[in-house]
Amino acid sequence: MEKTKSKSSNSTNGKASSSNKNNGNVGISKSAKRVSPSDQSTLMEEFFVDSLKDIYWAEKHLLKALPRLEKAATTQELKDSFVQHLEVTRGQITRLEQAFEIMGKKAQAKKCDAMDGLTKEAEGIIEDTEAGSMTRDVALIMAAQKVEHYEIASYGGLKQLAKTLGKTDLSDLMDQTLQEEKMADEMLTSIAENKINLEAASE
Ligand SMILES: [Fe+2]
Ligand SMILES: [Fe+2]
Repeated sequence: MEKTKSKSSNSTNGKASSSNKNNGNVGISKSAKRVSPSDQSTLMEEFFVDSLKDIYWAEKHLLKALPRLEKAATTQELKDSFVQHLEVTRGQITRLEQAFEIMGKKAQAKKCDAMDGLTKEAEGIIEDTEAGSMTRDVALIMAAQKVEHYEIASYGGLKQLAKTLGKTDLSDLMDQTLQEEKMADEMLTSIAENKINLEAASE
């Protein structure tokens, strides 16, 4: 190793000319400025934890919103799906708490403006549609699917981020929730397609 080093600097060797010295310095400062892989993962980990806080708030907020949607729904089928998703949401919150634990952080919620807006929109729909109508259910399904799609985007991102961080256990946890959100979305689609859309069209 030594040999190669002295060989390569041989031509300008010895009494380190000032230009030679500079070259060395440039090399050093360049690598010092570059963010090291460990710093990089720290920034990403911070972003990951921040995203966890966002979705943690969102899921907890949904615990309050889902019973209101259930109460407002017309058909038993849609009511049941909201009740079922409420239970699933509780499990997802526990899973998020496990994710915080894996990251060595305290579970903490940070207001998610997107979820706040989506649930406000759902409440607006309840006000704007007639109780007991099928149109109410069509509108509620649309509102609920917007929520699911937001969650699918969030968990999809978290899953990928966890993978990039090399945390397979975390990535698997996020994937479990991602699959549940996808299933909820599909279930809402099938409820709409099976009968609600048709019946609403004849109202
Ligand atoms: Fe969820
Ligand atoms: Fe969901």
